[in-house]
Amino acid sequence: MLALIGGTGLNTLEGIEGFQLSRAEGIATRYSETTVEVSVYSYLGNELLFIPRHGDGHVVPPHRINYRANIDALRLAGATRVVAMNAIGGIAPQLCPGSIAIPMQIIDYSYGRISSFYEDDLDGVVHIDFGEPYSRELRQALLDAAARANAPRREPVAVIDGGVYGCTQGPRLETNAEIKRLQADGCTMVGMTGMPEAALAREAGLDYATIGLVVNWAAGLTQDTITLDEIYEVIETVSPFLHTLIREVIEPS
Ligand code: HPA
Repeated sequence: MLALIGGTGLNTLEGIEGFQLSRAEGIATRYSETTVEVSVYSYLGNELLFIPRHGDGHVVPPHRINYRANIDALRLAGATRVVAMNAIGGIAPQLCPGSIAIPMQIIDYSYGRISSFYEDDLDGVVHIDFGEPYSRELRQALLDAAARANAPRREPVAVIDGGVYGCTQGPRLETNAEIKRLQADGCTMVGMTGMPEAALAREAGLDYATIGLVVNWAAGLTQDTITLDEIYEVIETVSPFLHTLIREVIEPS
């Protein structure tokens, strides 16, 4: 079953045309004392799972998210494929605010986050293959869905195939020098929530890919300071396309 992890700008599927909430389940996992609420939506007779990464009401900051509980809850609820939505800052020139990236690679600059299911009670040390952090098949499905979503539009939304997601710790935004360093490392976009989520999905055996929504230019790339107002304005503009994209991933017409 397909699961969506909503990020900043997509905290619920409630009210999005075509989606109906079937039920919500509190899933208990080994990784938190509280349950994780997984919503089950139906869309044209297909069920899909949804969790808001930052919790109900968007209250958990990136470095405090219980990534293990979220991924394990989705696995236990029957997810096999996970589409993650992540707000990002654009570093590469083509990644302007309002565009969408389907990244191919990750560099992880975050720290202090519990980043593996293989921590305790092991029979032996476990190393997963993570050379290609995103599922090829699911990335392609997203790109195909984006092309279908764009087909009837007079002004297509720019959807960039590939790129390197640099995951920073947050919750503060980066310094200008940090972005220059990320740029020199080859990062084309920056966000705070891509890791360890992607690695945990791989450990859990779930196909995983990301829709990166560019909501601002990364620090120092323009003269402007980055404001939340500006970010929410971009989200509002791109949301209709994002919703169509999600519908297309679920049910190709
Ligand atoms: N940096 C890190 N994370 C982000 C940004 C950014 O500029 N924009 C949205 N998420």
